[in-house]
Amino acid sequence: MKPEKKDILWYDNAVIYQIYPLSFKDSNGDGFGDIKGIIEKLDYLEWLGITAVWLTPIYPSPLKDFGYDISDYNNIDSRFGTLEDFDELIKQAHLRNIKIIVDFVTNHTSSEHPWFLESKSSKDNPKRDWYVWKDATEAGTPPNNWLAVSGGPAWNYDQPSGQYYLHQFLAEQPDLNWRNPQVREVMKEVMIFWINRGVDGFRIDAVSHMIEDAEFRNEPFDPASRLLSKPEYDNFLHLYSKNRPELNEVVAMFSEIAHAYKDIFIVSEVYLGPEDLLHFYRICPYHNQAPFNFNLVNLPWDAESYRAAIDVYEKILDPEDMRVYALGNHDLPRLASRIGKEHTRAAALLLLTLPGMPFIYYGEEIGMENSSISKENLRDTFTHENSGFTRDQSRTPMQWSAGTQADFTTGTPWLPSTISPPINVASEKNDPASLLTLYKNLINAKLSLPELQGGSYVSFSTESKNILGYVRSTSTSRCLIYINFSGEMQKINLPKGTYKIYISTDFQKESGEKIKHELILSPHEAILLQEN
Ligand code: GLC
Repeated sequence: MKPEKKDILWYDNAVIYQIYPLSFKDSNGDGFGDIKGIIEKLDYLEWLGITAVWLTPIYPSPLKDFGYDISDYNNIDSRFGTLEDFDELIKQAHLRNIKIIVDFVTNHTSSEHPWFLESKSSKDNPKRDWYVWKDATEAGTPPNNWLAVSGGPAWNYDQPSGQYYLHQFLAEQPDLNWRNPQVREVMKEVMIFWINRGVDGFRIDAVSHMIEDAEFRNEPFDPASRLLSKPEYDNFLHLYSKNRPELNEVVAMFSEIAHAYKDIFIVSEVYLGPEDLLHFYRICPYHNQAPFNFNLVNLPWDAESYRAAIDVYEKILDPEDMRVYALGNHDLPRLASRIGKEHTRAAALLLLTLPGMPFIYYGEEIGMENSSISKENLRDTFTHENSGFTRDQSRTPMQWSAGTQADFTTGTPWLPSTISPPINVASEKNDPASLLTLYKNLINAKLSLPELQGGSYVSFSTESKNILGYVRSTSTSRCLIYINFSGEMQKINLPKGTYKIYISTDFQKESGEKIKHELILSPHEAILLQEN
């Protein structure tokens, strides 16, 4: 049994904004976004109403995987600034009541990290066992058939020491050996280092991959996979390289550390179905860890699929379990490109009226789309066989204005800027009909309506299969939410009672307007009603 949660903590009522620092704001014209740039834009984030920021990695890195290949855990990459800049960011963010969550890359380091350089220097180096080294098979082939998420085999041969090392991502990202107690200890110290610097939470990267099967068994072919229709990696069941039972104790350890130090929140990057997500909650001794729920990101835009995915997750969790919904991130296509521009307003209302903690990826609030990038400008080396999408497309510079380089940099941006008026902060900020204004109003609603903060969630059926309807209620009040997934007008009979419009995605509908009995939803409209 977990101890009961007594206090309301910052993460009980939070809206998180994900910053991809390389692309957010460049303060010195070198073409890379940086910490000073983020500080410059804190007023914007405060204006938008967000309460916490998650920064993808800002640590020294050869940038083979754009920061997810760390060569020093206790410092800041000079492209992003210095430790002093980071301290200033924490200070300035906290002055605005904005919390800072940092990325914690635990599964692997950079191949240039001194630990790995030592480890590979010889078979009897004391740090050899900090990484996962194996001999070739008798036939001289790699130790098993495992593949890397980023493409190709998961083993790389190190000629001088005559063994293979494991890398579940790029060859420049060797996997740490979490069975080794020294690795656990040193990574624990990394967490404490950043906690002492004032961070409020961690997003733990690639958690599922951290511990492998002790026998390194071959992974079976997935009979359900359609060969050649996906990256090769997806043709196998990753029974032995992912989500091993030994992971439980490591995830619990993170929760323990967070609890011992302050009201630190931990969000784990896992792509799992509801039953397995539940397991992630249950293995932690405290209510301070939650796995991302990414189950909405691959759904077709239809009401039934969304209802089913949300209902099963909401039903399976206890009220104290922090829900974490995300509709996008730096690894996924932009929301507007995935579900269609016409649906982004309804998706925003959905995200911000569901229970728990919503994560908003930078640029989604203005409706940024996948950018088209010419071959010679592509930077990401992760495979995109067959998918046609490269992660660069959703990582292009934040569109601050329609000016030069979208006002991201005065130099040449690391990835080309997209200028697509009116999709930018400057033109949307004062436009009452813009997506940005809608996000601002929805964030405000999310943080101020008691029904949306701690209220329960129950979905209900309506006359149309195109409508997702749900109620968020406290013991004394309730809000109704209707989302029209279709391009047609929909007529709805409201439950008994009188209601007023709190927010509609149809900006022609006035907030405060009273309605009774019947509601007509415009095409693609989503609406939040408050019962009188
Ligand atoms: C996570 C990150 C992704 C990175 C990978 C390896 O999935 O979100 O960007 O490439 O881990 O660290």
